[in-house]
Amino acid sequence: MTITNLIKTRRTIKMFKPDPIGESDLMNWLEAASYAPNHRMTEPWELLFLGPDTRAKLNHKTDFGSAPVVFAILSKPAATSFERDENVMASSCFAQNFLLAAHEAGVGSYWASLGALPHNRDILGVPKDYDVIGIFGVGYPAEVPNAKPRTPIMSKITYLS
Ligand SMILES: Cc1cc2nc3c(=O)[nH]c(=O)nc-3n(C[C@H](O)[C@H](O)[C@H](O)COP(=O)(O)O)c2cc1C
Repeated sequence: MTITNLIKTRRTIKMFKPDPIGESDLMNWLEAASYAPNHRMTEPWELLFLGPDTRAKLNHKTDFGSAPVVFAILSKPAATSFERDENVMASSCFAQNFLLAAHEAGVGSYWASLGALPHNRDILGVPKDYDVIGIFGVGYPAEVPNAKPRTPIMSKITYLS
């Protein structure tokens, strides 16, 4: 599949099959994701893999769609708020790279934002000043939803003189 097709066929997956994800595949997708652009090579992303006890404590409504793999992507703090924002941007690029690398292999992901809530940060033991990009359920999709339509891109563009 071309990268354009991969981008356009990726979906947020809300329910997964129990089939396991190969450890080496997972590491390959994460390693590929680390080629994300990042200013000054801060490589600000860090990962927390969530075991069953932590997942139970988070009490997510569907336990991340019963995904066989669940991890959080954190973004490192920085000396200034400008650099911290840059870290969040780079970590988000890392996340999207991962989603696309997994999708290329037929594996879907569920990006959930609840990890950023204060009580969930405590459950995850997120160090102060780190940002939580998201918690990601990863697995083979049990259901693939239709694409949600996007606004025509021309309506988002302004040309400056
Ligand atoms: C920063 C971020 C946080 C998100 N958090 C949630 C969430 O908490 N729950 C959820 O159902 N989807 C969440 N999503 C997924 C979006 O709902 C989803 O991307 C959007 O509906 C478009 O669908 P698609 O990914 O299938 O194209 C999040 C996506 C992003 C980028």
